[in-house]
Amino acid sequence: MSNVIILGAQWGDEGKGKVVDLFSERFDIVARYQGGHNAGHTVRVGDRKMVLKLVPSGILRPGKTAVIGNGVVIDPAALLEEITALEAAGVDVTGRLFVSNRAHVILPFHRMMERLSESRPDRAIGTTARGIGPCYEDKIARRGVRISDLIDADRFRAIYDSLVQDKEVLRVAFGLGEPPDWNAAREEYVRYGERIAPMVRDTALLLNESVRAGKRVLFEGAQGTMLDIDHGTYPFVTSSSAGAGGACTGTGMPPNRIDAILGVSKAYITRVGHGPFPTEDKGAAGERLREKGGEFGAVTGRPRRCGWFDVPLLRYTAMINGFDSLIITKLDVLDGLKEIPVCVGYKLCGKPAESMPATNEQIEALEPIYETLPGWTKPTAGTTRYEDLPAEARSYLAFLSEKTGVEAGAVSTGPDRSEMIIVPGSRFEKLMA
Ligand code: IMP
Repeated sequence: MSNVIILGAQWGDEGKGKVVDLFSERFDIVARYQGGHNAGHTVRVGDRKMVLKLVPSGILRPGKTAVIGNGVVIDPAALLEEITALEAAGVDVTGRLFVSNRAHVILPFHRMMERLSESRPDRAIGTTARGIGPCYEDKIARRGVRISDLIDADRFRAIYDSLVQDKEVLRVAFGLGEPPDWNAAREEYVRYGERIAPMVRDTALLLNESVRAGKRVLFEGAQGTMLDIDHGTYPFVTSSSAGAGGACTGTGMPPNRIDAILGVSKAYITRVGHGPFPTEDKGAAGERLREKGGEFGAVTGRPRRCGWFDVPLLRYTAMINGFDSLIITKLDVLDGLKEIPVCVGYKLCGKPAESMPATNEQIEALEPIYETLPGWTKPTAGTTRYEDLPAEARSYLAFLSEKTGVEAGAVSTGPDRSEMIIVPGSRFEKLMA
């Protein structure tokens, strides 16, 4: 297998960081294609726990190259902070981390604009407050600042000053308080640009030349398909293309160079932020999932909303992405449950819903149809061989595969790199061979 996309099949936080970290061993380059430091990949290496927000987790593997593609939005301060933390942990990024010259830059006024939009109680999205959405707004409006601008100090100063003029009009109109010291912020960004410059490349060229030279690339999605700007639960989504298509637009890799697409899904489901969530469990069972699964945001620390595996949602994200195989994570969180509900269909106004509705009002109105599967008493936590899983856990996985129409090719049973099962005879096993 050469070039593979690994992405979230639900609302993010599916455990992609661990999966990418584990499988990056088989690739030469790991590339991020969208989002920014709103993503938080928690990776455990031995006793060490690291939260990577912008830098692809492949950086933790010596000798691998990490690429931040053009589709990502970059807060230079966050990037430099992460690099410093990596270096403090003994991970040398020199000559191994490359940043696209076409990626857009998150600037101080983006966070200001986000505070404004999130302060409307009826319209708040529950964002991570990192300035992600407003940065993408400026990108699409064709007035954004790119990394290639940031590293050219004179050019940057001119574009920045002109943008500040626009944002000042908004700040005054909306009464957003005293003006920040825009000039000091600009000079700080100039200094960031100087530090980032050695890492800047035409990463589309770098990736395509690498592929032509026989190198293998792992494309790492952030967030999840249900947060995709087009296919997610709009407007309660992030502002980028989190789906598989985003890997091509967000890196400059042609679609016909992609060999496989892998979806990562929890054995249940979670969501952070506002928006519809058909299988949410707001009772004690949901609370148990949150506590046992440690379901608190890696970036914001917010408690995640928890619920049951949603087959129709998975079928929808499998359709959008064309999953070849699923990697089911956090199976061990279900250990000890007597029964496990799984949503196998929805009703809308008393009739079966044939597809994922486009409006949130309709998604809110969906009535999940549950089937209850038996739980297991022997723990799965830490299991590394499929045949060592309790029979009920194997049946649970087989049920998810059958109902979603996508094989469960790998299963994660704990946070450590080693706590992973590759299902024997699966397509995934062949892909990873
Ligand atoms: P934004 O990406 O900060 O604009 O937030 C938009 C929505 O996406 C909010 O509901 C966030 O909670 C959600 N979101 C953004 N990044 C992540 C992530 O990495 N995991 C889960 N949810 C996320």
